Amino acid sequence: MSNIKPAWWKEMSVYQIWPRSFADGNNDGIGDLHGVLEKLDYIKALGVDAIWFSPLYPSPNCDYGYDCADYKNIHPEYGDLGLFKQVLDGAHERGMKVIMDLVINHTSDHHEWFVKSREEPESEYHDYYYWRKGKKPGGKKPPNNWLSVFEGKAWEYNKELDEYYLHVFAKGQPDLNMSNPKVREEVKSILRFWLELGVDGFREDVITYIAKREGLPNGFPLLPIGRGMEHWTSLPPVKDYLREFQDEVLTPYGGFTVGEAPGMTPKLAKEYITAQDGKQPLLDLMFHFQHMEADCFMTDFIGLPFSLKKLKKAFSSWQREMFGEGWNALYIENHDHPRIINRYGSPKYREASGKMLAAMYILQSGTPFIYQGQEIGMTNITLDRLDQFKDVATFNVYNLVKKFGMKEERFVKLANRKSREHARTPVQWKDAPNGGFCDAEPWFPVNQNYSEINVEAAEADPNSILHWYRALLQFRKENPLVIYGGYQEHYKSSRSLYAYSREHEGKRLLVVCTFGEKPVQFCAPKGFDLTQGKQVFGNYAPPETQTNSFVTKPWECRVYMWE
Ligand code: GLC
Ligand code: CA
Repeated sequence: MSNIKPAWWKEMSVYQIWPRSFADGNNDGIGDLHGVLEKLDYIKALGVDAIWFSPLYPSPNCDYGYDCADYKNIHPEYGDLGLFKQVLDGAHERGMKVIMDLVINHTSDHHEWFVKSREEPESEYHDYYYWRKGKKPGGKKPPNNWLSVFEGKAWEYNKELDEYYLHVFAKGQPDLNMSNPKVREEVKSILRFWLELGVDGFREDVITYIAKREGLPNGFPLLPIGRGMEHWTSLPPVKDYLREFQDEVLTPYGGFTVGEAPGMTPKLAKEYITAQDGKQPLLDLMFHFQHMEADCFMTDFIGLPFSLKKLKKAFSSWQREMFGEGWNALYIENHDHPRIINRYGSPKYREASGKMLAAMYILQSGTPFIYQGQEIGMTNITLDRLDQFKDVATFNVYNLVKKFGMKEERFVKLANRKSREHARTPVQWKDAPNGGFCDAEPWFPVNQNYSEINVEAAEADPNSILHWYRALLQFRKENPLVIYGGYQEHYKSSRSLYAYSREHEGKRLLVVCTFGEKPVQFCAPKGFDLTQGKQVFGNYAPPETQTNSFVTKPWECRVYMWE
């Protein structure tokens, strides 16, 4: 028996929309809210209970909305507040919640606060940001040795002021000074604005970065990207700021929160998401990154061979540590990573591996998030030239490796595997020019495989990945075992199988996932009898007679239940 307190956000599953590439309703090549409105039934039919929108706000798009120029408005490319309200009402009518992205570590350099901080240095806005004198005058040496995550040095010089401003991400993303109470008042006002409008919660962008070490000391010198991060990751004041937002705004409105948390460990996460002293936790959920590092080191670009053991260890430690104490946010894709089938699965066995990966994470304990296109098994695109890429983060890596002699051609090959832009190709709706996304030139190339991989084809094929996702989400809804059950891993040291069981009020579930095409012998773990269980999922036709062991097919997944 578990002592988990039920909550709607524990039972929900969420669909993430990256608006620019989801659906283009007015046919100008850019996804928008008209498109979302048309697709609400499609989203609902997937069986999700909420939509999280990546930023919809006005933005000069140096980081496609993650550089926000106006927190209380909608980007004209996507629509306006009236249209947003229609989408919100449409989602609510269908029983789906709406979660907004909240990007408060930084604003856009076009935001009026930043413009005033620069143009009117005597005004209160100057202290909304980290403006500092350099170590030498005239822009010859910045205040410290920090390097940004997206664009060279973390400091940008302004000649008129003879001061630098801090940007942990791109130059167009100046960091807000959250230690300034006025900035925190602004944040609370943003939260209230959207909650008053009726949204249900927030996904809080790089929330563990919002406090910077006092005195802004130099960082550990060796890191080539993000140098100094030990002085801006999960510092104690982050919790004070979140406490303030929670107590003063989120709790009174009942607003849900999921924080993006680079560098998070289960132990530290409990300080944020476990209720303490009878108060609301600081956040409901956290997106950690540990299971997204099974084929890389720190960033997708520093690739390592895929390690199933590393993947299992990450998942299992969060499952174990959160049980009864916190709650997991489950995801394997979002707008910041290449497509999962290319990473942890196999494009050659796209359907089998796509289904296996879906069951592997959705049947764990936690709230599942599904990223647009993931539900039809979209894969990475292959681009021919560097100038077809668009993302500031991709170019940052290029500028770095170029210095070490990497040629453009080789880098394009690397980016074709590692760039986060694979998640940003337009959703493939049907076998029509541009995958049915638009007739105009799309803002970003559509993957050429759209004639095979598209929503219409997936709808028509009862064995598609899409129908598999729908069935999994439906099964999760119907079985509290999947939501509230305990978790146990089996055969931990296997290099090709990930097997775990769930248990709740006398019911049990066994999930067996094969990583790879090589056949392996699977024997039911002690205490489980496959011949007595019901096979509830399988990405191959079920065997004519169940036996207590079997030899796996490529990327095979089987799920058994005992009631
Ligand atoms: C988060 C977002 C990412 C963005 C970055 C800076 O990691 O998910 O897309 O580029 O923050 O805002
Ligand atoms: Ca459009």
